[in-house]
Amino acid sequence: MRRPRVWWRGRESDLRALPAPLRLAEMLPGGGAWEIELGFGKGRYLLGRAASAPQGRFVGVEVASRYYRLARDRARKRELANLALVHGEAVYLMATTLGAGWAHAVHVYFPDPWPKDRHHKRRLFDPETVDLVLALLVPGGRLSFATDHLEYGGLVRDLLGAHPEVDLEVVDGPWPGGPRTNYEAKFVAAGRPVVRLVAGRRADGRGELLHPAGRSAVLAAPRPGS
Ligand SMILES: C[S@@+](CC[C@H](N)C(=O)[O-])C[C@H]1O[C@@H](n2cnc3c(N)ncnc32)[C@H](O)[C@@H]1O
Repeated sequence: MRRPRVWWRGRESDLRALPAPLRLAEMLPGGGAWEIELGFGKGRYLLGRAASAPQGRFVGVEVASRYYRLARDRARKRELANLALVHGEAVYLMATTLGAGWAHAVHVYFPDPWPKDRHHKRRLFDPETVDLVLALLVPGGRLSFATDHLEYGGLVRDLLGAHPEVDLEVVDGPWPGGPRTNYEAKFVAAGRPVVRLVAGRRADGRGELLHPAGRSAVLAAPRPGS
């Protein structure tokens, strides 16, 4: 990856020159509800949402430089003033830079399934990373997810369904409004099945986001010096 960058309202900065966590409310002032998309690809859904809801505030994270640049150039051309694009790796950024408890909606569409066992910790939805995704949400906020990888989709459904802070809905059929992203449009046109989930962070929950299946890994982690 080249230098990680952030673009917002026509400005661009090296991510490392900005405070962490990012002061998103200063970058995108106003009172609108926040949404974030992780792995936005070419930005079809994120830019469309930002354009159609000018009162909302939107953040996107994308690790691929060329997709970041493509979406940035499109956002600049469309003069989107309610959007910040962050170039970087989502798990690292969630742990260090994005802060917690602010997003009313989190969108993750067709994330890389990382099928090999040794790569599972790179997944956005693994017992040891799912808490970071859910922690972006305000209580009552909703995570929307889709994948064409049916095995991974089943694992994510079970993972979210087992979380005590989550109310899970398996979406039967297409989103109201049709395919959201380029990958979804491509797979739907090809007749491939897609798993779609909506996970609500419970407004009346206890606020304990550590997934029960991730606890054992945390508790079994070696102590420093041992
Ligand atoms: C299969 S594509 C889907 C793109 C888009 N969401 C869609 O549905 O059309 C996965 C996207 O996630 C990005 N991505 C994968 N892992 C990522 C990570 N750890 N952090 C940020 N972006 C990531 C990839 O660069 C790619 O753009």
